[in-house]
Amino acid sequence: MATFDWAGRRVLLTGASSGIGAALAVELARAGAVLGLCARRTELLDAVLAEVRSHSPGSAAWTVDLADLDAVDALAERAVAELGAVDVLVNNAARSNYHAGALETPWADLEYMMRCNYLSPVRLTRALLPDMLARDEGRVVVVSSMAKHMSSPGESAYSATKAALSAWFEATATELWSTGVRFHLVYPALIGLEPGVDADDAVADTATSGEVIPAPVLARAVRRQVEADEFEQYMPRSAGDLARRRANDLVPTIAMMAAWYTRTGGTT
Ligand SMILES: NC(=O)c1ccc[n+]([C@@H]2O[C@H](COP(=O)([O-])OP(=O)(O)OC[C@H]3O[C@@H](n4cnc5c(N)ncnc54)[C@H](OP(=O)(O)O)[C@@H]3O)[C@@H](O)[C@H]2O)c1
Repeated sequence: MATFDWAGRRVLLTGASSGIGAALAVELARAGAVLGLCARRTELLDAVLAEVRSHSPGSAAWTVDLADLDAVDALAERAVAELGAVDVLVNNAARSNYHAGALETPWADLEYMMRCNYLSPVRLTRALLPDMLARDEGRVVVVSSMAKHMSSPGESAYSATKAALSAWFEATATELWSTGVRFHLVYPALIGLEPGVDADDAVADTATSGEVIPAPVLARAVRRQVEADEFEQYMPRSAGDLARRRANDLVPTIAMMAAWYTRTGGTT
């Protein structure tokens, strides 16, 4: 049974112009939330906002580059000013789909990825947490990645950002466990981003972790995760078994990945 009602909740959602963020925006608007959306690509963001407003007319969107930490501070202020408060923060935006060898990754890219994927969501969360704590209620959703658990060859920079992100939020959630602010970590594996493609929710339970799950399935699962006050979830669920097996016995996984990387150079 749902313990959280989205009706009228003010949600700040980052990375809403495409993929998982766009699917989440529509899902939460349908559930009655008032959305504050943000991303850089204004045209795509406006298209998502138009659909969101058909369910939730009070929603807004702001074009922001979240790699600019001053802009992140300004976003937090603007969201509070225009929405009245932020009840739910969804840290979804990230530079993903980045592939380069550990030694070939330019230093500037490493720094950029850390700023965009780790420092930026931490900065935004730190800006909004004091008000949530003062009201003794709030929800913070963090879209991490299976890359935190499976650091694949060619993804050293990306995986490190997600590991840092999860570590920061695990410690923070522990510090704030007895408050009214709740945290929800999400570990997607392969999520399909084609607009309009959906599937039955049962696919989350039946798919292997190598299968692609459509973004709307994940969006519904995240909505239910918040409603049920679950700290973490894997998508598909089998990815959680993979992470647990790997934690128990790391070397065979590394050896298997190393063999694959040597054979293919990291191409699938
Ligand atoms: N798809 C998967 O299989 C998968 C698996 C594991 C984890 N994830 C995670 O899921 C989240 C969403 O990614 P996605 O797969 O849906 O990919 P996506 O379609 O590329 O979405 C990324 C979103 O983040 C925004 N973004 C990126 N850099 C930004 C910046 N500097 N400032 C503002 N917004 C920025 C993008 O908007 P603009 O480009 O318009 O700025 C876009 O809306 C990410 O955290 C990703 O790491 C995805």
